[in-house]
Amino acid sequence: MSAEVKPTRANKPFVFNAENEAKFQKLLTRYPDTAALNLPGLWLIQQQDGWISYEAMEYLAERINIPVTQVYEVATFYTMYNLQPVGKYHFQVCRTLSCELRGGEEILAHLTKKLGIKPGETSKDGRYTLTKVECLGSCGSGPMFQLNDDYHEWLTVEKVDEILAKLP
Ligand code: FES
Repeated sequence: MSAEVKPTRANKPFVFNAENEAKFQKLLTRYPDTAALNLPGLWLIQQQDGWISYEAMEYLAERINIPVTQVYEVATFYTMYNLQPVGKYHFQVCRTLSCELRGGEEILAHLTKKLGIKPGETSKDGRYTLTKVECLGSCGSGPMFQLNDDYHEWLTVEKVDEILAKLP
């Protein structure tokens, strides 16, 4: 599995805000080896900025004492990490076998048409991002997508339209 997009530079330094620094300090007490904070550290960065810049990866590598390549490897392996800024509504459509067999391609095509963007793109107004991702572990209830932090399962084009109509 690999992310579809390459990490982007923000061209500004990253630093944890006070809230995330406190969470990071708490995590540090839990693990004897700071390298174990690679995944949770990336998650904290994403919680703070909404995405993970290359500069943020460098920051994390320094904080947990590992080469930046190790952070890069993890960040680019999991599609849960956003390596570019995403829109207010991030649709992550599963493209793996079970969802595909149950109509995932149709759901993706419908979203592409309704949102006016292709997979890997963000709408110009910053409202929507559409991404194709590997299995999200909800295979028995496909086709499905993750919209921000929520799963939407057993999708049909009608159900997708209902979800879109309810977005504020
Ligand atoms: S195949 Fe779609 S969630 Fe697993």
